Amino acid sequence: MTTKRVKMEDIRLVLGDLGCTIKRFGATVVSFTKAEREGLFVSKQAVLDGSKPIRGGIPVVFPVFGADPAGQLPSHGFARTSVWRVLDQPSASKVTLCLTPAEAEWKLHPSAFRLEYEVELLLPNSLRTSLRVMNFSGLLNEDGFEFQCLLHTYLNIGKDISNVRVVGLDKAKFVDQLHPLPRTVLASGHASRIDQEVDHIYFGDAGLGEEEELVVECEGKPAFSCKRSFRLFAAKQFQCDVVVWNPWVEKARKLQDFGDDEYKEMLCIEPGNVGRRDVLRGGEDAVLTQTLSLL
Ligand code: BG6
Repeated sequence: MTTKRVKMEDIRLVLGDLGCTIKRFGATVVSFTKAEREGLFVSKQAVLDGSKPIRGGIPVVFPVFGADPAGQLPSHGFARTSVWRVLDQPSASKVTLCLTPAEAEWKLHPSAFRLEYEVELLLPNSLRTSLRVMNFSGLLNEDGFEFQCLLHTYLNIGKDISNVRVVGLDKAKFVDQLHPLPRTVLASGHASRIDQEVDHIYFGDAGLGEEEELVVECEGKPAFSCKRSFRLFAAKQFQCDVVVWNPWVEKARKLQDFGDDEYKEMLCIEPGNVGRRDVLRGGEDAVLTQTLSLL
């Protein structure tokens, strides 16, 4: 494998009429295009100077989802605010970025993690993003570390969220994070329309089929296909959860790096491992993969 270090310029991938731009800050994919169509939403008010996570694209969430129970790490962890290095760029359409404790801006996490993030364009219409989490402290380390991870994907759904529907969630159970106590697990039982603030975790081990894709329809037509997988090999944990998030009117107004009306233009469909806090022991790894296709 060739190792390249690049400066802080954006990384640009191309393949046919597909294009992708990645910031080393947070390894955040900020653009995925097919011809003239942009598949990812980035807020016009997103802060791009490295002082806070990027509001849009695909921020990488690790090692905590939401608030850290220990109260030490920032919300959604430090991967999205650390500067990653380029490990390998074997072709114009593929790159692997890497984050280790030496590069991570947050020093409190156990020092044995290593993240490798592969971003690849695939013809005719897809972007594959695959996050490998490793504990490389050696096989004798039985303690390991707890982690959650998630690809916080902001879809660019056009101008009118009221015409959007998510197909494929109908059999899944979920927790509504807007009413977290008690964390009642609800049955979905319908295809989701987004007509209010939504912050749901759909559980991979509760009806969300592992191989089934989610299809996001805009104005009655399929617009995105979102495929996912999560593999924690040693624990034989193979289920992938999905978070569906839209801040809607009130929360949009409170977010400083988000326009008041931009909730109409985006929907987050976020595959990850967030229903549990899995432990990764020395020598073990886990892989979270998303394949996003523009239909
Ligand atoms: C989602 C969470 O993943 O991210 C929401 O489910 C959260 O609860 C949202 O509000 C945005 O988080 P942040 O930290 O980027 O504002």
